[in-house]
Amino acid sequence: MIEEYRETLEKVPLSLTDPVELHRICVCVRKRPLNKKEVTRKEIDVVTVPGKGVLLFHEPKQKVDLTKYLDNQLFHFDYSFDESSTNDLVYRFTAKPLVKTIFEGGRATCFAYGQTGSGKTHTMGGDFSGKAQDSSKGVYSLAAHDVFNLLQQRRYADMDLSPYVTFFEIYNGKVFDLLNKKTKLRVLEDEGQQVQVVGLQEVPVSSVDDVIRLIEKGSACRTSGQTFANTNSSRSHAVLQVILRHGKQLHGKFSLVDLAGNERGTDVSSNDRKTMVETAEINRSLLALKECIRSLGQNSEHIPFRMSKLTQVLRDSFIGENSRTCMIAMISPGMNSCDYTLNTLRYADRYMRLLEIKHASTHFLRGSRTVARSFSVMRNSLLTCVFQEPIEELIQISEVEEKFYEDLQVSGNVLALFDTLLAYGARLHSRYFIHLNGLSTQKCEVKGSGFE
Ligand SMILES: Nc1ncnc2c1ncn2[C@@H]1O[C@H](COP(=O)(O)OP(=O)(O)OP(=O)(O)O)[C@@H](O)[C@H]1O
Ligand SMILES: [Mg+2]
Repeated sequence: MIEEYRETLEKVPLSLTDPVELHRICVCVRKRPLNKKEVTRKEIDVVTVPGKGVLLFHEPKQKVDLTKYLDNQLFHFDYSFDESSTNDLVYRFTAKPLVKTIFEGGRATCFAYGQTGSGKTHTMGGDFSGKAQDSSKGVYSLAAHDVFNLLQQRRYADMDLSPYVTFFEIYNGKVFDLLNKKTKLRVLEDEGQQVQVVGLQEVPVSSVDDVIRLIEKGSACRTSGQTFANTNSSRSHAVLQVILRHGKQLHGKFSLVDLAGNERGTDVSSNDRKTMVETAEINRSLLALKECIRSLGQNSEHIPFRMSKLTQVLRDSFIGENSRTCMIAMISPGMNSCDYTLNTLRYADRYMRLLEIKHASTHFLRGSRTVARSFSVMRNSLLTCVFQEPIEELIQISEVEEKFYEDLQVSGNVLALFDTLLAYGARLHSRYFIHLNGLSTQKCEVKGSGFE
């Protein structure tokens, strides 16, 4: 059924000669090919990437009368990469445009997000499929290659910049230096609210080969385990940073992040206490990342960086005028991964919508911003309330907010949805003593904006 449908589609995949657009925040999706296990199990491929930015998810469904039909869900991203895409191609449209940012004194961040076994480490670190590692084909080393190329260009050669590399992992909320015998490091905030990873080794590098050696050294000691989908699954978030210094002064920083896979407790091969703590910690930090990206997308005053070590150490990469971010959401195409794939796609899609809403008409913008502020008020109240870990409540707020933006997309009516928000806020108010006066005032503001 899916094959028949696929044959009716016109496919124009991205190519190395297509132009690259510049985005401050870029959201992309990469589909990996079916792996040997999935082929042996004769798993159906439920994802089609017809062309630039578009992706179709085919969900086989059944009507009440048992007739089968395909629910084809359409997603739009800045770029979408099909199963034949190479790391080179993915790099060209995702991390490559960010390299210049660090020469201009900015911060750049590129994340690989997605289900376990979907190809994050393959994309960021390189090809580890055979016995031999080939880190030269990953985003890490491709970025290093461009950094050295730019260092030689005349306009940057005069700036007297020196490149350094750091490589660390965040495992169970603790930071370990992958270039220094996995030394456990402390994360502290100085008086200027700058986050410092105390004692993190910054290794000077003078060629791409130097960087590749460090990638291999660090990757070899990164914490790994086994999941249902990946025999060599990363159990930690790995952050490789390419830093440019002018003398001792920091000039620019590129953080390349290979996240641990999002997973359910049942997906790991063992359910001992250690694994359960690992899984809880992974999910907790991914939620924190989602919250921070959401707040940034909404220009919120409070960004909850302190919710996890991951977001804490990446704080300075996110803020500031000259910062740019790219998220590559990885998906597995097999039918068995349906739920995960849909979750990843929805996560990336919602983020795209937030960006779209930011660029919508003035009325729409004012209304939705007011609502966004209200969500912030609720979040901030929770974060500053007596409860130390309001994770469950934050998840609830996220769910309502996601539902809100979904409904908004359909109805375009902020006011009607505002009542739902107030009702929800009132429930939280009774439980957590949140002041909702601000929300009521804002509701009046929306009414006066001509939005009704
Ligand atoms: N685009 C691709 N082409 C070919 N093989 C791929 C691709 N993406 C992933 N693979 C292979 O699939 C397997 C799992 O990939 P990888 O380890 O990168 O997953 P991951 O997302 O990092 O998972 P985890 O979250 O468990 O660490 C590896 O053997 C990898 O070589
Ligand atoms: Mg991995």
